[in-house]
Order: sequence, then structure tokens, then C-alpha cells
Amino acid sequence: MEAKKIAVLTSGGDSPGMNAAIRSVVRTCAYLKVECVAIYRGYQGMIEGDFKVMDARSVNNIINKGGTILKSARCDEFRTKAGRKKAYDQLISEGIDAFVVIGGDGSFTGAIKFNEEFDFPVIGIPGTIDNDIFGTTFTLGFDTALNTVVEAIDKIRDTASSHNRLFFVEVMGRDVGHIALNAGVGAGAEEILIPEESLGLERLLESLKRSKASGKSSSIVIVAEGDKTGESVFGLKDYIEKHLPIYDVRVSVLGHMQRGGAPSCYDRVLASRMGVKAVETLLEGKSNLMVGIRDNKIILTPIVEAIKGHTKIDKELIRVSDIMTV
Ligand code: ADP
Ligand code: F6P
Repeated sequence: MEAKKIAVLTSGGDSPGMNAAIRSVVRTCAYLKVECVAIYRGYQGMIEGDFKVMDARSVNNIINKGGTILKSARCDEFRTKAGRKKAYDQLISEGIDAFVVIGGDGSFTGAIKFNEEFDFPVIGIPGTIDNDIFGTTFTLGFDTALNTVVEAIDKIRDTASSHNRLFFVEVMGRDVGHIALNAGVGAGAEEILIPEESLGLERLLESLKRSKASGKSSSIVIVAEGDKTGESVFGLKDYIEKHLPIYDVRVSVLGHMQRGGAPSCYDRVLASRMGVKAVETLLEGKSNLMVGIRDNKIILTPIVEAIKGHTKIDKELIRVSDIMTV
């Protein structure tokens, strides 16, 4: 069945580029003369009927904005069958017959359950800074987050080198090390600790000893949030201070500043391309697919595949990083 009234929502953690994707979905609907409705506060707003009819002008001046104008929410009620039934009733009473969800794997899991129960057409757009969704080389917000992290580390480097210090910088990445690895290479980090490759405390120690012996006076070690080398980034500091007292160690946890800010040009273009594809795919009568990008081509992957696993870490980049820290 061809969709006639398409809804769009953002769900889960916000990421830069979500607004550009909302804009793209709304404008593609306007271009193709399909009605479009925004759902506020993710699945919570779907359950409560928090809807607003959108036209091309409703999304003026948002392409450059971080966060999401539709707000995002984590909604436990949607995890229940009763909650999803309420959401379905709201969509039907508004005449909505398909939706585009911009979010991460949790949001996609919810969308698939909803589709299974109500045979309701859904398309996903991957929006998360972690870049942890299978079926796309880049998720929306990843590129922006990398630029934010590199800029922050460049600043930390000033203090590291002025005071001959060792800095542990914790970056986001709940289960994966994509931000740590890419930003680490981009910022010239000495070591990069990611959950996919456990370096171990002994090897970290050896590496830092080697680095001192090779004449480096300051160092930056990037630690992905999900890495398990130490108990925490502060535990790493304690360990190194105990075993290598020659180092003056500091910790910097970058936190949520990585998730905010104006999207990079790459994320804006990616969001625009993904939004067009999402609407066109629904209008072709397709469902349960996630829009992604590979080899600079917009592709579709079944959502069930996308949520099964994570994009693998780039081993070649790990090798490059090792060579750079000679
Ligand atoms: P993300 O989409 O960024 O991974 P979450 O994991 O928090 O973020 O998921 C966002 C929302 O998706 C949840 O608050 C919930 O409403 C819905 N969701 C997540 N997992 C499920 C599930 N197993 N069943 C139904 N809904 C889910
Ligand atoms: O998934 C994106 C992310 O920013 C992770 O890197 C981080 O672990 C998590 O979300 C934090 O989520 P919140 O602060 O929204 O609970």
C-alpha cells in the first residue's frame, strides 16, 4: 500500500544532523505532495498523540541546528504491547499510515515490533554519534562528533605539552570504539583504548614507558567510554601514577558536549540524502528498511539486520595509529 500521510519522529539519544533529516523528510513529502506529520518526544509523543502537521515552511532554519526540534525521549511504555496499541490508535485516528523514525538500534527495535503487531510501514534513519549501527558506514552525527572531539583534544594538547603531562581523555561510545579510534588518529593520540581490542594495563604501561624513552614529553590517551582496560578512566590514572610516577597525569571526560552543536556539512548532506530516500522508499510500498550509506551510495538494509550487530572497527586504522605513534 502506498503511504498517503507520513509521520516523522526522533527517538533515543539526540545527534547532530537529526534536524537536517527531519527537514529532508518534511520537504520530500511536500515535494511529492504527500501529507506529513511530526511526532514530538519520540514514542512517548506517539502514545500521547503529540502531533503537528508539517509543511515545507515548518522546517525553515533548522538545517544548521544541533539536537532535535521534535525533542527526543526514552519511553518505557512503548516497550509494552499495551503502550504500542495506544500509539497505533493515535496514528490511525490522525490518518497516519507510515512513519520514519530517526534514532538508534533501540528505536529501530521498537519500530520492528510495532510493524510486526500492526503491519504498519516503517523506515529507519540511523541517528547516533556512536556509529554503531550495521548497514551504514556512517550514522548521522558521527562526523560532527568526531570534529567536536578533535577540536577539544587539540585544546587539551596545549596544556599537555605546556606542562609535560599525560592526559586520559574519555570519549563517548557506549559499546563501540569508532569515535575513540577515528578521533584518536585525527588528534594524534599516543594510545587509543577501545572495547573491541583490549590493550590491557601491562601493555599500556609498556607503551607509555616506550613513549617516554623515545623522547616524548607529553601524551594523550583516548579512552572509549565502553573500554574495559581499567575500571574507569580515573582508575587508569591511578594505575599509571602508581606504576609510572614520572608522569603527571590528568583526566578529561568530554561527556555530552560531544553530542551537541551544529552538524558538519557531511552530516547535513547525509541527512538530506537519507530523508529523501526514506520517503521515496515508503512511497514505493516498502517497509522495515533502514537507509544507510556505503561507498557514497545510499542503500537500504532490513532493520532486523541493522540491529543485529555493530559496524566492525576498522583494523587498518588501528594499524595506522600504531605506525603514527612510533
Ligand atoms: P536508541 O534508539 O538511541 O538506541 P534507546 O535504546 O533508548 O535509544 O531506545 C529508544 C526508545 O525505543 C526506547 O525508549 C523505547 O521507547 C524504544 N525501544 C527500545 N527498545 C525497545 C524494545 N525492545 N521494544 C520496544 N520498544 C523499544
Ligand atoms: O548512544 C549515544 C550516547 O551518547 C552514548 O555514546 C552514551 O553512552 C549514551 O548515548 C549516553 O546517553 P544518555 O546520556 O542520553 O543517557
